[in-house]
Amino acid sequence: MQEVIEKTVAFVQDRLQYAESGHDWWHIQRVWNNTKLILETEDADHFVCELTALLHDIADSKFHNGDESIGPRVAGEFLSSIGVDPEVIQHVQAIILNMSYKASLGDVHFHSKELEIVQDADRLDAIGAIGIARAFNYGGYKNRDIYNPKIPVETALSKEAYKQTSSPTINHFYEKLLLLKDKMNTPTAQKLALGRHQYMEDFLTQFYEEWNGKK
Ligand code: ADP
Ligand code: NI
Repeated sequence: MQEVIEKTVAFVQDRLQYAESGHDWWHIQRVWNNTKLILETEDADHFVCELTALLHDIADSKFHNGDESIGPRVAGEFLSSIGVDPEVIQHVQAIILNMSYKASLGDVHFHSKELEIVQDADRLDAIGAIGIARAFNYGGYKNRDIYNPKIPVETALSKEAYKQTSSPTINHFYEKLLLLKDKMNTPTAQKLALGRHQYMEDFLTQFYEEWNGKK
């Protein structure tokens, strides 16, 4: 099993060599670390969880015309090529297909403890200090304002309208990042999320103070 993990690490590192920084190897490594941390206090199949953490962003549908099947397909082909048990492969594929934030907003077709854990591990990487860094990195890439006091952070716009406004990066905190702590599946991740969530709240408080020239 250790050998399979090592081969998977090498495969993912190679495939993500030129990936954008939101989903590069370091994101995968952090999600893998978060997964192992959660597994210290949650009971689940470690092998399935670790393989899924490593392969969950192997091919982002955003860069493949929205084709949601590409990630599971690439992951499955790789795992078959190194002789992993078909049952394990199917489980890993089902999690990858169903764990994205987008999928979690629609009908969830598949559920398992292992999905809960890797999804939590991925969500933890979107909050806290890392989450802040990733958000501003994404906003910079899209050439968005960091903040615009004329655009209220809590608008009543529909999700679609919201996406089209190219809202400033601070708005993304209210749209998604501050909501993630209540979306954690496992008690372990719920606890881990608290500190990271508070860090974002403190960041926002200080951000507005500095914006307004206080202190
Ligand atoms: P995921 O792969 O976790 O489902 P995305 O691909 O949507 O998430 O986003 C990758 C990273 O970019 C995350 O840290 C996310 O918070 C950030 N991000 C996504 N959309 C925005 C946005 N509109 N503004 C700022 N950051 C964003
Ligand atoms: Ni991810």
